[in-house]
Amino acid sequence: MKSEVATVMSFDDVRYSCVWEDHRLLDSALNVNCSDTVLSICSAGCNVLHLLLSGPAKVVAIDLSPAQLSLLELKLIGIGHLEHEDFLCLLGYRTSTQRCATDLYSTLRPHLSDRARSFFDSRDTLFHEGLFRCGRLERYFHGFQTHPTVVAARPAIERLLRSSSLAEQQRAFEELSSPAFTDLFRFYFGREMMAKNGRDPAQFSHVAHGDVGGYFEGRFRHACMGMPVADNFYLRQFLLGHPLELEDAQPYLRRSSFHKLKALAGRVELVQEELESYLSRQPDGALSKANLSDVFEYMSEGLSDAVFGELSRCLRAGGRLAYWNLLTDRQRPAQLRGELAPQKALALSLWKADRAWFYKAFHIDERLP
Ligand SMILES: C[S@@+](CC[C@H](N)C(=O)[O-])C[C@H]1O[C@@H](n2cnc3c(N)ncnc32)[C@H](O)[C@@H]1O
Repeated sequence: MKSEVATVMSFDDVRYSCVWEDHRLLDSALNVNCSDTVLSICSAGCNVLHLLLSGPAKVVAIDLSPAQLSLLELKLIGIGHLEHEDFLCLLGYRTSTQRCATDLYSTLRPHLSDRARSFFDSRDTLFHEGLFRCGRLERYFHGFQTHPTVVAARPAIERLLRSSSLAEQQRAFEELSSPAFTDLFRFYFGREMMAKNGRDPAQFSHVAHGDVGGYFEGRFRHACMGMPVADNFYLRQFLLGHPLELEDAQPYLRRSSFHKLKALAGRVELVQEELESYLSRQPDGALSKANLSDVFEYMSEGLSDAVFGELSRCLRAGGRLAYWNLLTDRQRPAQLRGELAPQKALALSLWKADRAWFYKAFHIDERLP
């Protein structure tokens, strides 16, 4: 099996400095416990660290991108060597007059692998910018947040985010969604603009959806009017560029998680490889749970089917896969119906509560005995 993405996309820079996939869905879908060996797509590492908080025996964080793995490695080394407040400074969530992020990086540098050291040594500006917002996608969101039409709509955005009932949200959204705002949203998050500036043309290779901007605008409308905004950290970060309160953000950032993570950080293995080739080297039953992000939609249907076959072989009986579809339908192929059982009702109910509102579907498959 040969990855199609690796040959066409550049992985020189951080594409995602936050994971835009709701960790709560993974809690209910995977129910990770101390006997689990978990495979997780790395991305910015937020959900790897979240899964680690459940205390599994091991988490394998896999990514094609050295930049994404370097980011998670720095987080892990930071957890191991810093106090909580300094860890937040390192990531750019706090500004400390005493120790800026570049000084903290110098302290951590000797503990990093050659890969992470050479990545960060030549990218000082990422620390000035703030690691948590340095990704290509987050920069793209920043361009939206600072567009004059969005700046003018800021009072309505703040009213929306302060709403405490759906009725209040709906009134605030009516005010926010002027024709100018809606037109900008559709244009900015349309296929052409996103492929050129926010994601990568290769990520759209298998996308048939004609009106990408209209699709995202519809999902945004749903997130603003159809589900509570009060605890929606993903919506806040999308609209404001930062979480209002870190206590509402991903649990791995909380003070109460930090000591637990210090004890667990050694259980993460970083793997820079294509998912396809990594799986082909694993023995049967090597894994019990897997978080696969939305990787299947970067693959042709044929490759995606083959990867499901390998995942099924690597999973223990009762083990589970969790994954999203963003713009392309990808599910376990029919020929695996005797091996992988989709947990449709649970997956649908979780998708309905997905605070990372972009996705068109969420799937959970359980390995049959
Ligand atoms: C799949 S992307 C998804 C991010 C986000 N949900 C989105 O669609 O914009 C998350 C990570 O998966 C990695 N990735 C993509 N295809 C992969 C593959 N075949 N094997 C390993 N990692 C892969 C990317 O480098 C990226 O860091």
